[in-house]
Amino acid sequence: MFKIFKLNFSTFKAKYFLLIVILCIFSLISLPKKLIALDTRNGESLFKHHCAGCHVNGGNIIRRSKNLKISSLKRNGIDDPELIAKIAREGIGIMDGYGDLLVDNDDLILANWILEQAQKAWVQG
Ligand code: HEC
Repeated sequence: MFKIFKLNFSTFKAKYFLLIVILCIFSLISLPKKLIALDTRNGESLFKHHCAGCHVNGGNIIRRSKNLKISSLKRNGIDDPELIAKIAREGIGIMDGYGDLLVDNDDLILANWILEQAQKAWVQG
């Protein structure tokens, strides 16, 4: 009990140091989670900006059979993020490519998001 009042400056410093170390460790642990959350948000907003005009809810308003539902992706052998990313960049058939609008890893972020939605049957939430 009496010891508390005996705290000198260096024990204070040590305590702050420990606190900062703990905070650093915590933020490092939670970082990947934040990045994943950012990715899915980006995937969604990229899709809304560049693809939803024709592929609203994973459909296709121009060629109904060429949609983004898992059955269609499987039938056409493109249930793979790399292949969807390539289509996003370069286009397919009568669909234009959007490579000019997709920077860095946008194509893959978008493709992963699309595949994830397809696996969830494009049901939100
Ligand atoms: C202007 C309308 C339009 C936009 C915008 C559009 N698409 Fe398409 N998409 C199409 C059409 C039409 C097809 C069918 C092409 C064909 O086979 O001739 C297609 C086909 C596809 C396919 C193949 C689907 C299948 O089952 O075979 C994928 C994957 C795809 N689009 C992804 C995307 C992505 C990703 C974006 C956004 C970057 C996008 N599309 C934006 C019109 C569009």
